[in-house]
Amino acid sequence: MSLPSVPGLCFLLSLSGAEAQVAKGPCNWCPLHGYCVNSTHCTCNPGFISGSGKRFFTYPLEICKDIDECKPPISIYCGLNAECKNVEGSFHCRCVPGYELLSGDVQFNNSNENTCQNITSSKTPNGHTELQQIVNNFESLLTNQTFWGAGSKQEVASTASSILQNVESKVLETALRAPGQKIQKVQNSTVAVETRVVSDNCSEERKAFRLHTQMNSVDIHCIDVIQGRTQGPSAVAFISYASLGNILNATFFEKADEKDPLYLNSQVVSAAVAPRRNSSLSQSVTLTFQNLKVGGSRAGPGQVL
Ligand SMILES: *[C@@H]1O[C@H](CO)[C@@H](O)[C@H](O)[C@H]1NC(C)=O
Ligand SMILES: *[C@@H]1O[C@H](CO)[C@@H](O)[C@H](O)[C@H]1NC(C)=O
Ligand SMILES: *[C@@H]1O[C@H](CO)[C@@H](O)[C@H](O)[C@H]1NC(C)=O
Ligand SMILES: *[C@@H]1O[C@H](CO)[C@@H](O)[C@H](O)[C@H]1NC(C)=O
Ligand SMILES: *[C@@H]1O[C@H](CO)[C@@H](O)[C@H](O)[C@H]1NC(C)=O
Ligand SMILES: *[C@@H]1O[C@H](CO)[C@@H](O)[C@H](O)[C@H]1NC(C)=O
Ligand SMILES: *[C@@H]1O[C@H](CO)[C@@H](O)[C@H](O)[C@H]1NC(C)=O
Ligand SMILES: *[C@@H]1O[C@H](CO)[C@@H](O)[C@H](O)[C@H]1NC(C)=O
Repeated sequence: MSLPSVPGLCFLLSLSGAEAQVAKGPCNWCPLHGYCVNSTHCTCNPGFISGSGKRFFTYPLEICKDIDECKPPISIYCGLNAECKNVEGSFHCRCVPGYELLSGDVQFNNSNENTCQNITSSKTPNGHTELQQIVNNFESLLTNQTFWGAGSKQEVASTASSILQNVESKVLETALRAPGQKIQKVQNSTVAVETRVVSDNCSEERKAFRLHTQMNSVDIHCIDVIQGRTQGPSAVAFISYASLGNILNATFFEKADEKDPLYLNSQVVSAAVAPRRNSSLSQSVTLTFQNLKVGGSRAGPGQVL
């Protein structure tokens, strides 16, 4: 009677079979977290490394160890206020205690997805309440028919543009006063605002940001937010107005006539950066709108703005 010549085989067989052996090929002895590459050699699953460091191995007592991606030499970087968490065969990033992802999710995969923000400061009402107050004030103005009905077209136009500029400045000032609240979002029924503060020369930040309000979004590069400013916070604001179409409507435009009705087919949006406000941008900024009306109109083409 002869035992198999491979010394490790008895030991391997005595382990609970399914776990100890993965029968994926003719070399049916590969260790847990490993598999056969051909009739003689095993390799470890992604996220694991063999005890000997060899990529392909034949030694039957070889084991596949988890790679700790959070430690050197890999040392995954998760970004500010975040930490890397190793798990078997993989890893993930999560915000450090006191911080959470804007989305409310618990995990993310790399520093580009890092939106960790201080929970305490996002729940302290100060900046947030102030921003909400600004939005509410402008909302009551924008929806005040008496106010808008009174002026000539010229007056309406200049009032509307000064309001847009005013909202931009107030919102950006508020964001910059509370740089700890990296991302803020407030809205009322017609005005929606998102602000984002960049505090560190874009080195720790995502390369480009997307800000969303209502049905619209803007993509802007971090360096166009800081505009060369490397010390102190800079901010970008994206604002959308669902009600401006009621003011800047068909009757507002001289060209409009009954045959060719004119309408705004998206919400009015504005994007601005501070404290440096230079109109020259190094990268293109993408604005994405969702149409308010879809497809061919019933009566004639209609003009879309
Ligand atoms: C099995 O794969 C290993 C690693 O690629 C290789 O070195 C070896 O020659 C292969 N053996 C056979 C029989 O194909
Ligand atoms: C992270 O990566 C895993 C695996 O690649 C994927 O399933 C998951 O959706 C990713 N998570 C995010 C937030 O992208
Ligand atoms: C969060 O922000 C608040 C107020 O800005 C600050 O007092 C607190 O120390 C911060 N918490 C952490 C964990 O950084
Ligand atoms: C929206 O603004 C109005 C004032 O225009 C205010 O009375 C109302 O409370 C605001 N709504 C919310 C949800 O903040
Ligand atoms: C609307 O505007 C008119 C004229 O400017 C003003 O007198 C009135 O107080 C405003 N109404 C509200 C609700 O703000
Ligand atoms: C900011 O970043 C730019 C480009 O990455 C670099 O050239 C510059 O030296 C940095 N400035 C500071 C103060 O870190
Ligand atoms: C169009 O806008 C004017 C003010 O600019 C307003 O008086 C009028 O009611 C609006 N018409 C419609 C159909 O919204
Ligand atoms: C804006 O940018 C242009 C070109 O980069 C530069 O010449 C100008 O001085 C800048 N203006 C301000 C106010 O920073």
